[in-house]
Amino acid sequence: MSTLPRDDARAPTAALAHEARRSRALGALGADALLVFGAPHHSRNGDAEYRYRQSSDLWYLSGWEDPESAALLRPGSDHPFILFVQPKDRSREAWTGFREGLEGARARFGADAAFPYAELSARLPELLAGWTTLHYAWGEDGTRDSTVFRAVSGLGRVAARNGLATPHHLIDARRILGELRLKKDADEVALLRRAADITAEAHVAAMRLGRPGVAEYEVEAEIDGLFRRRGGNGPGYTTIVGGGTNACVLHYITNREPLRAGDLCLVDAGCEYANYTADVTRTWPVSGRFSGPQRRLYEIVLASQIAAIDAVRAGRPYKAMHDAAVRVLTEGMVDVGLLDGDVETLILEEGYRRYYMHGTGHWLGLDVHDAGAYHVGGSSRPLEPGMVVTVEPGLYIPPDDLRAPEAFRGIGIRIEDDILVTDGDPDVLTAACPKSVADVEAACTG
Ligand code: GLY
Ligand code: MN
Ligand code: MN
Repeated sequence: MSTLPRDDARAPTAALAHEARRSRALGALGADALLVFGAPHHSRNGDAEYRYRQSSDLWYLSGWEDPESAALLRPGSDHPFILFVQPKDRSREAWTGFREGLEGARARFGADAAFPYAELSARLPELLAGWTTLHYAWGEDGTRDSTVFRAVSGLGRVAARNGLATPHHLIDARRILGELRLKKDADEVALLRRAADITAEAHVAAMRLGRPGVAEYEVEAEIDGLFRRRGGNGPGYTTIVGGGTNACVLHYITNREPLRAGDLCLVDAGCEYANYTADVTRTWPVSGRFSGPQRRLYEIVLASQIAAIDAVRAGRPYKAMHDAAVRVLTEGMVDVGLLDGDVETLILEEGYRRYYMHGTGHWLGLDVHDAGAYHVGGSSRPLEPGMVVTVEPGLYIPPDDLRAPEAFRGIGIRIEDDILVTDGDPDVLTAACPKSVADVEAACTG
């Protein structure tokens, strides 16, 4: 299958990369079959629709972008890659645009066979006959589950009569797909780098725009607008702009208050580019200069983040970065009087959770919290080159926490970067985004 035409804005990733991923998936499946559905298409309200975004798993395997689709992989068969898609329909295309249809699925997306999505339930039993193990992600959609379970159990009854092999093992498809998606190939890393570059540029633009009186939503608009102007899909998750005490609300997305002089502003925003998202947080002073107490806490978070990034190395367990961040944060909190007691005990008994209550990162890729297991055989998974993680320690001092020194109350700080595991040093994909006190202040006043 050839690479998609360069001017095809609908499919910016080379089809060859999807073909290579599919062939890895077919190899990993061995003698098993795999069924993956596209994302459901939700309407927003009334007749208004969200822009469609393909499910990450189906996109990963096929590059197929349209709604109402599913992929069936049957390694070693005469049709190892089957796509179910919307057929061409001139009258529907007048409303919703061009469809690749069955022909496009075969000619441009490499399907060995293509059928209308509406025929999936009818065709599934015959296509699964002869396969003993099916990988399928149940529990996401009841209608799909019953289609798949009906096909499998119907086949079981036929098999009992005539000795046909049929699926009698169901395996959660998220296991195999998570393993595949965890280690990024060169095309994926290139797209993540592009997402990271656009994201860094947007955070700098936000620092420049932010000043007393500017609303949180104006900062959001600056960031999300830049993501689109650079050709991204938009934000990979809803942009967080939290001024002052709003920074202490971890998932604050209302973004409707004005920024106030003397406060910090926490921005957590990542551009999704060709379906790969960055995930970056920066915290900066609205008036351009950190106050003494803000700076003290900021430097603790920064030191913890740098220590955690240094733990993102091949062979180290995933949780090493969390342990590194927790140690520096806890020592810092004791130093400045936020916590009382012995550092080892505070770590052991998780006393640090009073002001640091979330994990230090997650896998990153097609999803902001990307697919893949964090534990293997009951232990934290060793990192391998090609994995991408976020590193995002923070401190959040509730405004009404009377146990905290008054000067620190209401301060929320997080610093988050995206890191590629390599054979050598950690590769900080988002290094272009300022984070030292001097660089952040320069960007805010620049
Ligand atoms: N932006 C989501 C997260 O940091 O996990
Ligand atoms: Mn994150
Ligand atoms: Mn984030």
